[in-house]
Amino acid sequence: MEIIGIGAGDPGHVTVAAVAALNRADVIFLLDKADAARELSDLRQAILDAHVPAGGHRLVRAQDPERVRTEAGYGEAVSDWRARRADVCADMLAEHLGPGETGAFLVWGDPALYDSIISVVDDIRARGAGFEVTVHPGISSVSALAARCGTTLNQVGGAVQVTTGRRLARGWPTDVDDLVVMLDSREAFAGFADDPDVHIHWGAYVGTADEVIISGPLAEVADEIRETRARARAAKGWIMDTYLLRRKPGSV
Ligand SMILES: C[S@@+](CC[C@H](N)C(=O)[O-])C[C@H]1O[C@@H](n2cnc3c(N)ncnc32)[C@H](O)[C@@H]1O
Repeated sequence: MEIIGIGAGDPGHVTVAAVAALNRADVIFLLDKADAARELSDLRQAILDAHVPAGGHRLVRAQDPERVRTEAGYGEAVSDWRARRADVCADMLAEHLGPGETGAFLVWGDPALYDSIISVVDDIRARGAGFEVTVHPGISSVSALAARCGTTLNQVGGAVQVTTGRRLARGWPTDVDDLVVMLDSREAFAGFADDPDVHIHWGAYVGTADEVIISGPLAEVADEIRETRARARAAKGWIMDTYLLRRKPGSV
């Protein structure tokens, strides 16, 4: 079984190793998200068309189970969602992967960052499935954002923390001046818009034709980001955005 990171939208961000793995696969498995299903499927199809022009594989898609979004019991909701995801994936494999065939799961960005496929596949193996797993790294939305903004993620000798909007909403973590924030539906950056020492690099749909990048002192660009975000989300019905919040070292 191959787990293949395909980058966050730009077909040019697929590695040579990932292309080779895609071309080896007999069956490619896709989990489609309900809200963004159509456009994300089209983007993934464009990546496949660019790198597996001869086809030759079978494409098997299933609907990614919905996560129940409640504030209470977040950990349990995620565990339950992962278990249902493992059930869906196990069924796909049992039904569509023949003996001796190679299957591949496509993963958005890098499989190592906020994606559950590695643990889902581990779970399926723990249930007795006898296959080997190879993980192919991909260019994450984080790397793509930093590159598009022409910046590094850390300041000289400093640490950087990758976190979520949910966590940032509880406060700026201690001992770190650079934060990469993903999965932020609540615009947690707005809570720091009064701080004159915070700078933001924000990107939505990075690497795709709809990419939007806004960089600047947070106090000056926070409202613009919120308005741009709301407009883009309303127009497309979904948004994927990531940002780097940078504080001057020693400013607290
Ligand atoms: C479930 S995580 C998947 C992350 C993915 N494995 C990666 O390496 O980028 C989804 C989050 O990734 C970020 N993301 C994914 N693709 C993006 C893109 N093209 N532009 C901006 N952010 C993106 C957003 O923060 C989104 O909420």
